[in-house]
Amino acid sequence: MAKHQTPLLDELTKGPWPSFVDDVKAEAARRAANKDGVEYQIPVDVCEDLLGILELCYKDKETHWKHGGIVGVFGYGGGVIGRYCDVPKQFPGVAHFHTVRVNQPGGKYYTTEYLRGLIDIWDMRGSGLTNMHGSTGDMVWLGTFTEQLEEIFYELTHKMNTDLGGSGSNLRTPAECLGMSRCEYACYDTMALCYAMTQEYQDELHRPAFPYKFKFKFDGCPNGCVAALARSDLSFVGTWKGAIKIDQKAVAAYVGGELKPNAGAHASRDWGKFDIMKEVVDLCPTKCMSYDGKTLKIDDKECYRCMHCINTMPAALRVGDEKGLCILAGAKAPILDGAQMSSLLAPFVPVEEPFDEVKEVVENVWEWWMEEGKNRERLGETLKRLGFGKILEVTNITPDARHVQHPRENPYIFWTADEVGGWDRDIKEYRKRHAR
Ligand code: HEM
Ligand code: HEM
Ligand code: SF4
Ligand code: SF4
Repeated sequence: MAKHQTPLLDELTKGPWPSFVDDVKAEAARRAANKDGVEYQIPVDVCEDLLGILELCYKDKETHWKHGGIVGVFGYGGGVIGRYCDVPKQFPGVAHFHTVRVNQPGGKYYTTEYLRGLIDIWDMRGSGLTNMHGSTGDMVWLGTFTEQLEEIFYELTHKMNTDLGGSGSNLRTPAECLGMSRCEYACYDTMALCYAMTQEYQDELHRPAFPYKFKFKFDGCPNGCVAALARSDLSFVGTWKGAIKIDQKAVAAYVGGELKPNAGAHASRDWGKFDIMKEVVDLCPTKCMSYDGKTLKIDDKECYRCMHCINTMPAALRVGDEKGLCILAGAKAPILDGAQMSSLLAPFVPVEEPFDEVKEVVENVWEWWMEEGKNRERLGETLKRLGFGKILEVTNITPDARHVQHPRENPYIFWTADEVGGWDRDIKEYRKRHAR
């Protein structure tokens, strides 16, 4: 029988959706049975006490978790988030319930051997509960005691060659789409760049010195499989210059029905015969495509690189040959202000090892934000407060039409006195030309 009765939580197990309550109960039962004879280093009933305390919170309609608490491992300022409850006598299994952030492998590629190695550490030294993966992209290991932290860190680094991730006011664990390892759309090697940036900025990752958290995300193309545009202070999104490559024979094969649109995805329903006008040409957001029944044309200078046409007819259309990335700045979830998407900062940056062009933008942005950003202000908020013109100035990026979100709505480009030969005017000179 369960250690605590949880009638309120049990409501969450009803209905067609998956439930974390079922998951935590399953883990509680697995720990109690202990088929593998694990030498648990924290209370065996941690999962039961987690359910118990949550039930009590629901009943009391207030939280029984204390606010904050700083814990960590020697030499690092982040990677562990401290949690303590205020009813440890009643729920000793969750007297401490610290979260450990673990840097995920590149492209989230795991072998079963590696995964088992990780879980063996966590079963023994933590609750066994994980969230794979958090929205940051790292593994989130939920619930352990302070005494276990150094042990976990030692075993992770020495046995598994794996590091902690970021937490607190530092660079959070960078994350990327799997890019060129599997995806033909990738405009740069996301895994190589993410790895290089993780290594380069170890200090920023482990030693919080920023006004607030800072996220990097790497998408190989504008399809945005890690949603860099919505979720990272600096978003690195693959793009190309020049023309989308068109294979007119393959276009004809799509029109004739020999090739399946969307590479055969969405096939669970009969959508009728493929209609290139309805499904591709008319859906182009900039209306830069045309098809006369024989030849597909694209006016490439108007193309937004939205990927729609390429996704629909991947065998006929390919991204252009000159590839690189664009850097966008300022996305965040609602914290002080509302949620915000990134704005275009650097329209095209070549991606070549050792990635100096990319690092230059990053370091200029940090230098400015660390100076000007208020405590707990995300880059996107600093940008809004001081204006987009400022970040263009500190990164030495020339303003251009692609920086304008809505014409006449974000006039952030101001002339300075020296650009116009000073503001001082001689009123008498002026009046000679302009009568009162
Ligand atoms: C009315 C119901 C719910 C609301 C209003 C809600 C709202 C939210 C919001 C605002 C976020 C943050 C999104 C972001 O800015 O990144 C979020 C994230 C999330 N939600 Fe919910 N949610 C609801 C129900 C659920 C349920 C039932 C589950 C799971 C059983 C769930 C699991 C998650 C997870 C795993 C995340 C991502 C956490 C992270 O990795 O940061 N949510 N939810
Ligand atoms: C089974 C229990 C829990 C689950 C599944 C869970 C899951 C998560 C996930 C997925 C994230 C986002 C990680 C990311 O950005 O990658 C997160 C962050 C967070 N969780 Fe939990 N969590 C749990 C328990 C708790 C508890 C008990 C507390 C508080 C006492 C807590 C407080 C927080 C806070 C404050 C953050 C944001 C930290 C930051 O990014 O600054 N969580 N949690
Ligand atoms: S973001 Fe683009 S390159 Fe990366 S996996 Fe998705 S479709 Fe492929
Ligand atoms: S990528 Fe998007 S904007 Fe560019 S031609 Fe295709 S549909 Fe149009």
